[in-house]
Amino acid sequence: MKEYNLTTKMHSYQWNELSEEQRELLRIAKEQTKHSYCPYSGFHVGAAAKLSNGVIIPGCNQENAAYPSGLCAERSALFAAGAQYPDQPVERLAIACFTDGHFTAQPGSPCGACRQVMIETEHRYGGKMEVLLYGEDETFVVDSAADLLPLIFVSENLKG
Ligand code: THU
Repeated sequence: MKEYNLTTKMHSYQWNELSEEQRELLRIAKEQTKHSYCPYSGFHVGAAAKLSNGVIIPGCNQENAAYPSGLCAERSALFAAGAQYPDQPVERLAIACFTDGHFTAQPGSPCGACRQVMIETEHRYGGKMEVLLYGEDETFVVDSAADLLPLIFVSENLKG
């Protein structure tokens, strides 16, 4: 029997420790929470994807009375980016969550399906995508989406 110990690498930053580029993308993700359609959860999530050509694609969660038909903010931004700029790698993705009248103190934690899609985005373009998770108390910076989901299912797994 062997034991594998899988670790996740990330950094915690205070607002003034982030670069201006990172702060700008986070500002857009925070702004996007205002566009969230979340009558069922009241949990507003905003996202912003920065592409290699400098374009920023916003996204936010879109809920539905048939609950599973809705979509998270991260995937709405990444799928919109893929639809509009299929040839542009996504360099950075910022996420912010707003509920009960304020942004969450702790960074939002992307769901498993969003992590899967983030990593497919990295594989698709063959580079790293930095992920910024905003919280009022601290912001987590993950250098590569791959760090968010060990033992990922990727296209190579389909080959057996
Ligand atoms: N949500 C996101 O948009 N992103 C996540 O990573 C986690 C959850 C949304 C889905 C749903 O509209 C609401 O937050 C509550 O789960």
